[in-house]
Amino acid sequence: MTENADSILRSILSSISQVAESRDVETLLMQFSRMAHQLVPADRCTVWVHDKERNILWSRVADGINRIETSAEEGLVGYVLQNGDALIINNVYGDPRFNHEVDRKTGYQTKNMVSLPLKNSDGEILGVFQSVNKLNLVDFTEDDLKLLLFVTIYIGRELDAAILREELESTQREIIYTLAEAAEMRSNEMGNHVKRVSEYCRLIGELIGLSDKDKELIKVASPLHDLGKIAIPDSILLKPGRLTDEERILMNTHAELGYSMLKHSNRKAFKAAATIALQHHEKWDGTGYPHGLAGENIHIFGRISAVADVYDALANARCYKPAWETERVVALFKEERGKHFDPQIVDAFLNNQEMFHEINRKFTDVFILEKR
Ligand code: C2E
Ligand code: SIN
Ligand code: SIN
Ligand code: FE
Ligand code: FE
Repeated sequence: MTENADSILRSILSSISQVAESRDVETLLMQFSRMAHQLVPADRCTVWVHDKERNILWSRVADGINRIETSAEEGLVGYVLQNGDALIINNVYGDPRFNHEVDRKTGYQTKNMVSLPLKNSDGEILGVFQSVNKLNLVDFTEDDLKLLLFVTIYIGRELDAAILREELESTQREIIYTLAEAAEMRSNEMGNHVKRVSEYCRLIGELIGLSDKDKELIKVASPLHDLGKIAIPDSILLKPGRLTDEERILMNTHAELGYSMLKHSNRKAFKAAATIALQHHEKWDGTGYPHGLAGENIHIFGRISAVADVYDALANARCYKPAWETERVVALFKEERGKHFDPQIVDAFLNNQEMFHEINRKFTDVFILEKR
């Protein structure tokens, strides 16, 4: 082991820097299996994650195999999960605890394996790590176990953080959806507006090449763009005709109102939602509200949601206007290219109109309005 120390250290350091970059559970699992493989060359590594609700273990990292599930109580994995001991078994078929079922399902022939518990920093067992079939069919050793122990201590910590992060993100999505629906119910004009705007925003993000993270973020956050309308009186919000100047001034406060409801959160999704609420009525040429920002001083999420919001307002009926014909909608975007809207985003729309219509058809209002 000592003559290898340098190369081991180098591979640990390179793995750690990659792991630090990854945020989602699946990518982390992949990287751990690579890391383990570099330290202890084996044919296959499996990270089993314990799903407590269903009391099963699942894995996607058995290289080249799709997600597999197994009982949390059976087999060597089940034993390690329940007891928290690490095991080296060099002839698995000679061990009564070994569960043949997994080999049967995967068509794989397990010979020997090391199994270690994955613990979080509180010592709670999150799952099991297995290194299977040491290369050249030699036995696993105590030294292998020590190296893998290092990997699993590291995995446990990172995995716990990633699981918590994913739970947090999904909680945020739920809260945002609930809030957005509450706002939508108040202004019953809107039907599926919120859902559609969210989809157009993601689509535009795709078309103009936002990162995967930003596409997801704008999709999650944009349903709240009109949250401030909760505070607008019904007499204005639901008025069938044109607003008076006075009513208009009040209506326009919905942008800042939404922002002030959302701005206190430090969570990424809510910060993005606050920006979108504040800026979705700003215009590229600086004539929008509330701050008259222009060009790239308007956050890209604000510029995207402006196009998505107006497209949806025009393509569908509102309490104050009927739906417009497609030609009229397209004409408005051509006219407002570089005035109301970022030209780059208008082009993305003009060149891909069918994708927008598709979303509009898919989340049509009719249904929802009939229900109410
Ligand atoms: P909204 O219905 O979601 O409309 C969003 C944006 O779509 C509008 O922002 C505007 O930029 C565009 N838009 C909607 N309808 C038309 C239209 O007939 N012609 C043109 N050229 N653009 C249109 P805006 O104007 O800042 O309005 C913000 C919100 O104020 C609207 O959200 C709606 O809730 C309300 N609102 C605007 N005008 C009226 C109105 O005449 N009557 C009523 N009752 N509400 C209005
Ligand atoms: C077991 O742990 O008993 C089976 C798991 C496997 O074959 O990978
Ligand atoms: C994260 O840290 O990626 C999610 C939590 C947040 O919204 O800041
Ligand atoms: Fe708005
Ligand atoms: Fe809107």
